Amino acid sequence: MEVRTIGAGALSAGAVGLGCMPMSWAYTASRRSGEESLRALNAALDLGVTLLDTADMYGPFTNELLLGRVLKERRAEAFVSTKAGLLVGEQHLVADGRPSRVRRACDASLRRLQTDVIDLFQLHREDPEVPVEETWGAMAELVTAGKVRALGFCAVGARAQRRAGAGLHDTTIGRLRRVQQVFPVAAVEAELSVWSPEALAELVPWCAARGVSFLAAMPLGNGFLTGTLRPGEGFEPDDVRARHPRFTAEMMAANQPIVAGLRRVAGRHGATPGQVALAWVLAQGAHVVALPGAKHERWVRENAAAADLRLTPADLGEIAGLPPALGSWD
Ligand SMILES: NC(=O)c1ccc[n+]([C@@H]2O[C@H](COP(=O)([O-])OP(=O)(O)OC[C@H]3O[C@@H](n4cnc5c(N)ncnc54)[C@H](OP(=O)(O)O)[C@@H]3O)[C@@H](O)[C@H]2O)c1
Repeated sequence: MEVRTIGAGALSAGAVGLGCMPMSWAYTASRRSGEESLRALNAALDLGVTLLDTADMYGPFTNELLLGRVLKERRAEAFVSTKAGLLVGEQHLVADGRPSRVRRACDASLRRLQTDVIDLFQLHREDPEVPVEETWGAMAELVTAGKVRALGFCAVGARAQRRAGAGLHDTTIGRLRRVQQVFPVAAVEAELSVWSPEALAELVPWCAARGVSFLAAMPLGNGFLTGTLRPGEGFEPDDVRARHPRFTAEMMAANQPIVAGLRRVAGRHGATPGQVALAWVLAQGAHVVALPGAKHERWVRENAAAADLRLTPADLGEIAGLPPALGSWD
């Protein structure tokens, strides 16, 4: 597996990482299996898929506990990324960026992950009630204390949060500039995929110019870009896609030309559409790491192999010419 540098320091991880969220959160609970997830995690490390991306709120807490069972034996092989600052409330998710809360969250994550250091500690969501510099300053102290190696900033959902009037009046880059003045940002995690390329306009180049890694969340379009989901199949109510505007039967049917395009490119390489979607993400810069989420060993193996798939300029041109995705959160 190709290894990519994380941030400007001495840290590195496999170009394809593993988003561990589907093992405990966001996708249908009845389809989860702890044993299969453990097999997936072990296969990932065997293949050099070292960046394991989790968060305290996935589960909540159970995702970190699951990872801890593997890290207990294989810590040295993994690059552990976890997040704090977002809590599961009774009605909805709540941002909490108070320094005391972030310090406690770090200690709790270390215990659940069965490790004494977190490679990348990320701010999951900015708390509109707490100046982001204060939260970031508390996170920086955790680096000084040796509990954390580097800091990451999640920008998933930032636009939606601003649109909803959640008090974030600054742009993501504006906020990144502010925290950079307090302590270096090693990585930014945000959505990037063939059907959600918006980060290419500003965020991906901003990171490239500053030695900041870009961790591509949802690189498979929540599974859509793999071509394995059938329009109209439906999702159980606890699956995030049941409420996602792009996953109505109508929108899934309307967006099939995107999958068909990926399938055409895949056919020329003896690959799958999902592998082409991941290779496209990796082609956006040497500072990009793809974080496909999966809880099945089979998918982990398939996704890891995408690191060896080199798209040609003609492939990339063909993908750039695919129609934009229909259906959005706007
Ligand atoms: N920071 C944030 O706020 C934030 C938000 C969202 C996501 N993320 C991170 O980004 C990661 C990726 O996002 P995501 O998991 O939501 O979306 P994703 O990677 O775009 O898609 C995940 C879905 O694709 C399926 N899948 C994976 N590989 C496949 C393959 N080769 N063939 C067919 N299906 C395949 C998975 O199935 P199975 O699960 O059944 O294996 C899962 O349902 C997350 O796990 C998380 O670590 C972060």
